[in-house]
Amino acid sequence: MSKNILITGVSQGLGLAIARAVLDQGWTVSGVSRRLSGDYAALQGQHGSRARFHAFDLSRTDDVKAELFDKFLPFETPLHGYVNNAAVAYDDLVSNLEVNRLRAMYEVNVFAPMLITKYAIRHMLFTRAAGAIVHISSISVHTGYKGLAMYASTKGALEAFSKNTAREWGERGIRSNCVVAGFMETAMSGTLTAAQKEKIYQRTALKRATAPASVAAAVCYLLGEGAASVTGQNIVVDSGTI
Ligand SMILES: NC(=O)c1ccc[n+]([C@@H]2O[C@H](COP(=O)([O-])OP(=O)(O)OC[C@H]3O[C@@H](n4cnc5c(N)ncnc54)[C@H](OP(=O)(O)O)[C@@H]3O)[C@@H](O)[C@H]2O)c1
Repeated sequence: MSKNILITGVSQGLGLAIARAVLDQGWTVSGVSRRLSGDYAALQGQHGSRARFHAFDLSRTDDVKAELFDKFLPFETPLHGYVNNAAVAYDDLVSNLEVNRLRAMYEVNVFAPMLITKYAIRHMLFTRAAGAIVHISSISVHTGYKGLAMYASTKGALEAFSKNTAREWGERGIRSNCVVAGFMETAMSGTLTAAQKEKIYQRTALKRATAPASVAAAVCYLLGEGAASVTGQNIVVDSGTI
């Protein structure tokens, strides 16, 4: 069955890998990020109208309905899935916490995805689509890393939100799951030194970074018919963090 999947943060990194994997399934991507990157434009060149795009800054939470739903995904455009991938990381020691930076991170990582979930569910109910929601979480929620307490708290909030959304909407055919990603070599982790990365790899069974394509494959599984009985779960894709 052909699907239309809303994916945030498609300009680079994991979101781009997820968009590529979803397109390779033959499905349509409705991609969102602040800028149209060369890499996503290349996917548009390859897949044409199946690689849709809308530039939007997710920190503008007041405009989520008007921009993402009224304009980009009105009810006439079917919606079968939502992948909450876009996020920012505010890394620092808790003793340095600045509430404005914390608030800005929560707007993008938590408040925008919760609002998008609200409108995505309404859309799926209206069009009677058996929809699937997938949030990208982080292994830092479960293991802890020095400097990631504030960031990890946003992902912990999403895991709780996903579990409860699954309970609330399962009887209407809507599933919600998380993919808990390990450390990936993307722009988000670009500020780490080689020594810091090596330390992180040594905490994994595979002794290497998590491949975005492997995380994207798990996302596609959760979006697809093969996961029809899977909801309220976290799937960990992290090179085996121990
Ligand atoms: N990298 C890791 O090690 C790691 C580990 C575990 C989990 N994760 C999670 O994986 C997901 C993807 O991260 P990544 O590593 O691919 O990071 P990334 O390379 O920094 O990409 C982040 C994406 O989010 C978009 N974005 C950021 N702020 C936005 C905003 N205000 N409005 C709209 N789009 C915005 C960016 O696009 P624009 O800049 O064009 O807006 C970009 O496409 C995130 O949820 C992250 O928390 C990452």
